[in-house]
Amino acid sequence: MRLAASLVVLSLAFYASARSHHFAAAHHIRRDMPMPDVSGYSVQPNSLGDADNGYAGFPNVSNAQTILNFPLKSAEGATIPMYISAGKDNKNITRAVIVPPGKLRDNWYYFWVMDKALYQAAETYEDVDYNAISIMAPALLNPKDITAGAGDNTTLIFNGTTWMSGHYSSGPGSFTNISSYDVVDDLLDYYLDKDEFPNLDKVVIAGHSAGAQFGQRYAALRKSSKHNARIAFWLANPGSLLWLTADRPLPNSTCENVDRWKYGLTDGLPGYGTYAYNHYGRDGIVERYNSHNIHYAWGTADDGPGDTRCQAKTQGLTHYERGLNFVNMIKDISGGSVPDNATVDWVEGVSHDGEGMTRSEAGMTRLFRNATYQRRFGNDNGASASWEPAHGLLLGAAAALVSALCVL
Ligand SMILES: *[C@@H]1O[C@H](CO)[C@@H](O)[C@H](O)[C@H]1NC(C)=O
Ligand SMILES: *[C@@H]1O[C@H](CO)[C@@H](O)[C@H](O)[C@H]1NC(C)=O
Ligand SMILES: *[C@@H]1O[C@H](CO)[C@@H](O)[C@H](O)[C@H]1NC(C)=O
Ligand SMILES: *[C@@H]1O[C@H](CO)[C@@H](O)[C@H](O)[C@H]1NC(C)=O
Ligand SMILES: *[C@@H]1O[C@H](CO)[C@@H](O)[C@H](O)[C@H]1NC(C)=O
Ligand SMILES: *[C@@H]1O[C@H](CO)[C@@H](O)[C@H](O)[C@H]1NC(C)=O
Ligand SMILES: *[C@@H]1O[C@H](CO)[C@@H](O)[C@H](O)[C@H]1NC(C)=O
Ligand SMILES: *[C@@H]1O[C@H](CO)[C@@H](O)[C@H](O)[C@H]1NC(C)=O
Repeated sequence: MRLAASLVVLSLAFYASARSHHFAAAHHIRRDMPMPDVSGYSVQPNSLGDADNGYAGFPNVSNAQTILNFPLKSAEGATIPMYISAGKDNKNITRAVIVPPGKLRDNWYYFWVMDKALYQAAETYEDVDYNAISIMAPALLNPKDITAGAGDNTTLIFNGTTWMSGHYSSGPGSFTNISSYDVVDDLLDYYLDKDEFPNLDKVVIAGHSAGAQFGQRYAALRKSSKHNARIAFWLANPGSLLWLTADRPLPNSTCENVDRWKYGLTDGLPGYGTYAYNHYGRDGIVERYNSHNIHYAWGTADDGPGDTRCQAKTQGLTHYERGLNFVNMIKDISGGSVPDNATVDWVEGVSHDGEGMTRSEAGMTRLFRNATYQRRFGNDNGASASWEPAHGLLLGAAAALVSALCVL
């Protein structure tokens, strides 16, 4: 009873915050299109099992279809589990957002976060249509998840967190040469196929934290293709970065392998990238990386240490500091400003919080509005901007209220 009451409170708070804000566009919301059930956002989905002992399955998530065995083209006979937006018409889709999981392989949580941000964006901006954007949240599982019950004998599996930096799968069976980045290639191809999605313009690979690490390193190794202009990356608060130069802002002469993959480009690249590295070298990889549409985002309050290995510490001591240092480095090697196809958003007051980042004005804009339009919000070189969190604080307060009510 109390739980039900608190859900109503959150739903009302969510509506109130979404509707009462002073965004001009908020007054011109289309009422004719189906919108999701807001109460679906009030409680985040619960994991079945845990990351350490293995997951037993996938919880149902509002507005998502659970696909347990999405077939892979790069590994015929193997599959991955995912959530994908339910109840949408492929012909109506103009944008897709692929959101990798966090370190905990928790794709249910990230679907929920992204869908909630999309809902808020659709309520806020006239040009964002909830029904025109498809969200996909894949997971790359561990062997222990198969034992615990989340996958079957076709599920592609990766040891530990090796999926985060593009390494090869460890099974099932002989599927030991499939990079987690081959999987992303497949997922992009799925959406970029004009026969399936005739009106789809852009796909955004949108990662927070571990998901941002995954996406950033993929951007460096993905081959350039005719599809480049249709793909964008949104990389928020990565725990560490693939550094593009060999030097570091906080050098540590006793720390080994500071510039080895996944921290750098001297050596240790995964099989997915060795051909490119051997042929084009560091400069070729960096050029390829910077040719992609990349939207970086850091919360200015993200002062957590993230990755505490010595290699990561040479990049900065907190997520935010690594961001500042990375942006300086990338400007240094790009003639003084960030590359033409990159943008940088500093999201004021947000910490290591995927919900705060996706629901900030900058987050909603990059994710759901003009993901590949550049130089629109500029200051010094047209590519950096500071943003206030939009409804995040109010929603945060509502969520806190609900948590408080739930424990009563
Ligand atoms: C998800 O919902 C379906 C249909 O209601 C139900 O059959 C299934 O057991 C649910 N799965 C979980 C993991 O709760
Ligand atoms: C797809 O778009 C058409 C035309 O705007 C609309 O009538 C229909 O409801 C949409 N379908 C879905 C599932 O959003
Ligand atoms: C996977 O399991 C199915 C039945 O659950 C079985 O028919 C099939 O042979 C198995 N495949 C492999 C490669 O073990
Ligand atoms: C995964 O771990 C197993 C057991 O530790 C090991 O034999 C295998 O080589 C590892 N595979 C990869 C791709 O790292
Ligand atoms: C994996 O190895 C098989 C057998 O050698 C090969 O046919 C396949 O192309 C490889 N896959 C990838 C993604 O490298
Ligand atoms: C430098 O690296 C060494 C070796 O890992 C480590 O013990 C030390 O704490 C590092 N120093 C700093 C300032 O991070
Ligand atoms: C930026 O992206 C566009 C579209 O993909 C591409 O044509 C252009 O070459 C890219 N710019 C750089 C500097 O690579
Ligand atoms: C998005 O792009 C359209 C078309 O170029 C433009 O009119 C609009 O102002 C852009 N919106 C934002 C938020 O950049």
